[in-house]
Amino acid sequence: MTPARIRSVPFFDYPHLFHSEERELTAIFRDVGMRGAFILQEDLVRFEKNLAAYLGVKYSLGVGNATDGLLLALRAAGIGPGDEVIFCSHTMVATAAAIHFADATPVPVECGEDHLIDPEAVERAVSPRTRAILPTQLNGRTADMQALGLIAKRHTLMLVEDAAQALGSRFQGRAAGSFGVASAISFFPAKTLGCLGDGGAVATNDDLAYERVVQLRDHGRGADGEIVSWGLNSRLDNLQAAILDFRLACYGRAVERRRALAGIYDDRLHSIEQIKPPPGPGKDPDHFDVFQNYEIEAERRDELRAFLKSCEIGSALPWGGKAVHQWPRLGFQTLLPFTERVFERVLLLPLNLSLTDDDVHHICNTIEDFYQRSSSKSR
Ligand SMILES: Cc1ncc(COP(=O)(O)O)c(C=O)c1O
Repeated sequence: MTPARIRSVPFFDYPHLFHSEERELTAIFRDVGMRGAFILQEDLVRFEKNLAAYLGVKYSLGVGNATDGLLLALRAAGIGPGDEVIFCSHTMVATAAAIHFADATPVPVECGEDHLIDPEAVERAVSPRTRAILPTQLNGRTADMQALGLIAKRHTLMLVEDAAQALGSRFQGRAAGSFGVASAISFFPAKTLGCLGDGGAVATNDDLAYERVVQLRDHGRGADGEIVSWGLNSRLDNLQAAILDFRLACYGRAVERRRALAGIYDDRLHSIEQIKPPPGPGKDPDHFDVFQNYEIEAERRDELRAFLKSCEIGSALPWGGKAVHQWPRLGFQTLLPFTERVFERVLLLPLNLSLTDDDVHHICNTIEDFYQRSSSKSR
């Protein structure tokens, strides 16, 4: 097949994003540089306060990245050797790695139709060693926290959230990252709220978890600088916090734009029978989604992807094309047939603030074109 016309749409465009804020960002570099304010400084404290207010939680703490954030959240929750933690295998390996490095056992379970953790699968996976459920709030959508909360209550389990992809997402009006003992959020550059490098935060309402993360992220130091426990060096750079605070102030608009782009995809892709789009924005009153990613299922996914590539349209396979339990070297023995079927069909389409409405229409036209050409060929 040859493409009808070439109009490049990259999967993500970092230089475009930087260029759109170049003046403001340069002013921040200068300001922070001139003050020499690099580690654990006032910009970080301000950002942490603003982030906590945005989430509706008591505390947020900047850390090096969300992977560390998850590890610190688990440790702060008291998870350790002998404990099992249930997570959804459709997630970044970081979710399971954090459980592993907390010396606990990661127990993968199936995703559901919306690709988030399936509460019935969680219920089936509970064992006498289970201590916590760790849902991933995937693609900017919050899992069914009501169902998970009931399971946690029934079996006396903790909830720790991987909200790396879900800042601003809500379930029944409550923010992702505000359920359970503690949660982690990522500011990786391509995230809905990204910085210019690695960055993350832990959010919590729990005083003890807060105190523990304050120490764990800074070499185990207590308030007066004395060492009160073993700790790591995992602090969000003050410069990154200043950038994030600037971006957080306009985050509401960014979320609305992402939802508008997702709305165009939703309108267009529903008429293509070979595509299963994700739940559309505003379709379910329980969910407010921020569309970190736009993840579809597609028939003949690999051919579609090759066709999009030939048309210079970027796309990506989540997590390199496999769910966590499918990486043989990690040693999982589990079979998760529903998730494995999803991974034969799943594809991420571009969704970011560099896109115009026309770009999204162009992507949808190209997908339509692909299926029309292949059906007329097979006639
Ligand atoms: C679901 C999920 N969990 C964890 C992470 C890890 O975040 P970080 O790169 O900030 O460590 C990511 C980042 O992509 C993610 O998407």
